[in-house]
Amino acid sequence: MSVKILSIDDLSNGDISRLFFRARSLQSNFNTLEKKSVVMTAFFEPSTRTKLSFAMAAIKLGLHSLNFDPESSSLKKNESFKDTIYTLISLGCDLLILRTSDTLDRDFIQSLSCSVINGGDGINEHPSQALLDCFTLLDYWHLDNLYGKKILVVGDITHSRVARSTIKLLQRLNAKVFLLGPLFFMPKVGDEKIISYEKFSELPDNFDAVLTLRIQKERLSEAMIISDDEYFNTYGLNKAVLSRLGPHCVVLHPGPMNPGVEIDAALAMSERSLINVQVKNGVYVRAALLEHCLEGG
Ligand code: NCD
Repeated sequence: MSVKILSIDDLSNGDISRLFFRARSLQSNFNTLEKKSVVMTAFFEPSTRTKLSFAMAAIKLGLHSLNFDPESSSLKKNESFKDTIYTLISLGCDLLILRTSDTLDRDFIQSLSCSVINGGDGINEHPSQALLDCFTLLDYWHLDNLYGKKILVVGDITHSRVARSTIKLLQRLNAKVFLLGPLFFMPKVGDEKIISYEKFSELPDNFDAVLTLRIQKERLSEAMIISDDEYFNTYGLNKAVLSRLGPHCVVLHPGPMNPGVEIDAALAMSERSLINVQVKNGVYVRAALLEHCLEGG
């Protein structure tokens, strides 16, 4: 028999007492009742790969996965970001994966009672992407360190949270990092260990991998507008450019790609491209990260 509860009038006094009795008994043993942790994605910016690979990883690990959709939430009724987060935690999620258009406030996040993973905050960081990028390279080369590997990062580095996190991790794994792009896409704070170039023709050769990035058009100022054609002709990756970078150089891209802007569609689908492997590896790496957080780090 199906039950419809549209009004309080649809419940008898007996129903109400039984509901309250059951709620009280659940209240006292709720945590022992449900062993599976609940992972909740709360993304305040669009996402395909990151959001779904966390959800997929949670499902494959036998956890529960829930998605909070800001567009259909009480944020539309002016509820604040912080109150929204407190609400998600009070509902009982064990691990929150957040994507925001501003840098996350570390003190606020530290004060929360559940685990949190940054799924990309503004132009700041994207740690799980860095882990999957580096995992993909290590796995491809069957290495556990990137010592001596030359990695080129091309494009809109200033606005890329992927670049910020991935460059840090590449360096931690001892890779040698080179940057290429127009000056206005180069990070302001110089790191003497990273060499920046403005033109392909100035680059050294024998790169092992190249990571190319989408231009973050949603974050550009007017002075940074460059036409798609001009960008592709100057910084776009195609098979000829790749051969010049190195005979065995492989291609990474965090996605989403804009073919014909930062990368040629044929190259993206070629055997030198690890782009789809990155997506697959993203699920394994994120599953490992979920376990890490749920086991208390
Ligand atoms: C990136 C992001 O959102 O930071 N995508 C991703 O997570 N795979 C890169 C981008 O949007 O260009």
